[in-house]
Amino acid sequence: MPYRTGAMAAPGTRPPSAPETAGADSGGGSGEPRQLPELIRLKRDGGHLSEADIRNFVHAVMDGRAQDTQIGAMLMAIRLQGMDQEETSVLTRALAESGQQLEWPKAWHQQLVDKHSTGGVGDKVSLVLAPALAACGCKVPMISGRSLGHTGGTLDKLESIPGFNVTQSPEQMRRILEEVGCCIVGQSVKLAPADGILYAARDVTATVDSVPLITASILSKKAVEGLSTLVVDVKFGGAAVFPDQEKARELAKTLVRVGMGLGLQVAAALTAMDNPLGRNVGHTLEVEEALLCLDGAGPPDLRDLVIRLGGAILWLSGQAETQDQGAFRVAAALDDGSALRRFQLMLSAQGVDPGLARALCSGSPTQRRQLLPHAREQEELLAPADGPQCSPSPLGTVECVRALPLARVLHELGAGRSRAGQPIRPGVGAELLVDVGQWLSRGTPWLRVHLDGPTLCSQHRRTLLEALVLSDRAPFKVPSPFAELVLPPTTAQP
Ligand code: URA
Repeated sequence: MPYRTGAMAAPGTRPPSAPETAGADSGGGSGEPRQLPELIRLKRDGGHLSEADIRNFVHAVMDGRAQDTQIGAMLMAIRLQGMDQEETSVLTRALAESGQQLEWPKAWHQQLVDKHSTGGVGDKVSLVLAPALAACGCKVPMISGRSLGHTGGTLDKLESIPGFNVTQSPEQMRRILEEVGCCIVGQSVKLAPADGILYAARDVTATVDSVPLITASILSKKAVEGLSTLVVDVKFGGAAVFPDQEKARELAKTLVRVGMGLGLQVAAALTAMDNPLGRNVGHTLEVEEALLCLDGAGPPDLRDLVIRLGGAILWLSGQAETQDQGAFRVAAALDDGSALRRFQLMLSAQGVDPGLARALCSGSPTQRRQLLPHAREQEELLAPADGPQCSPSPLGTVECVRALPLARVLHELGAGRSRAGQPIRPGVGAELLVDVGQWLSRGTPWLRVHLDGPTLCSQHRRTLLEALVLSDRAPFKVPSPFAELVLPPTTAQP
């Protein structure tokens, strides 16, 4: 068997009213576990939760003793009061142990690597990086998430490819890793199910932006994967969970420290998320752009991020001597077609008809568009008639395309969910027709919106226009979104 059952009771969906069970040792010293209201009060008032308290809470989440209101209250108490490193580590372990631990052949250990992102707009890096790493000899058992708030989810993007199945058993994952080297699956009733419950609750209780909750959510899923090395892409900027780089750095350091405690080699890349990554936002449009990157082409910021994150992973896992050497190998896998071949194999292994997978990977951009679901209408927005320049034809330099309002409009057009399980419209999205830093003239088309309704309403059009920020400075080259890499304290930067 490629896995063993975790320490916690067999996972399942939460029964609506399961009977009270002790489930954990005492947290209060009396021999009896503390009741949930007492645990919530303790954290609400800034107290420290013991290991028994945290495990008791996670058990109660799993076996249905915790009501939704109590889960929400505890999440808010943690969001407001925080958790120290010890509490965060215990929470991470308890979430990981709510399901099965994946186990792989010992000989794979060094090759088992992954990357995870805190969530961005237009972020299709995983679709490219997983097969590129597989082409470099890695094993990538990636457990990904769905769209959360305004940010897109890797699973939703992949599911826009007809037939793609994100539900794979541990045995199927092992077979795919043997044959392909990478798979991208959903977190499920078997894999860190307690995180699934808390993740959905955080989305609707304004408790997403919490360092301990993000850390435990990400690392519990990764602890289950049995990895040697993980790089987390921690976004900062206008469309990130933490706009402030300092707060994002605090998250990065916590991820690295807690990861070390779990025996995982974790590094965290701080990357800018003000503009969308690449030119396409929306599920099928992002698959198309990921395929372009796998062709060795595509937008430079996307390629740059894939190569740099991949380089860091190969170096940290001891599969390259330096980050640059690792980056060179990832770039070569994009340029020589080996990453694209792994992507095609992964699609077939995860349920896509092999003929469709072949056609998608070998077709031209136009053919690809015909093979994927697309929205009924397209509408182009033109650069406004006035701007910082007063001369008749020029308008200004594209300083920024604000990703947050763009993502919010697409969300309202059906690209995102307002409730868990709600269907999404895979073809809805937008293509940027301009690059940040370029000169833009009046009346030039700058955005093509793909929508299922007849036209954009005036409110959406106004919001999108406000997303386009122009300046009167000279055209410029956009810096790489990759700002810094936070490493475990003992690692020497090459
Ligand atoms: N990704 C996760 O898996 N969890 C979070 O909380 C944020 C990003």
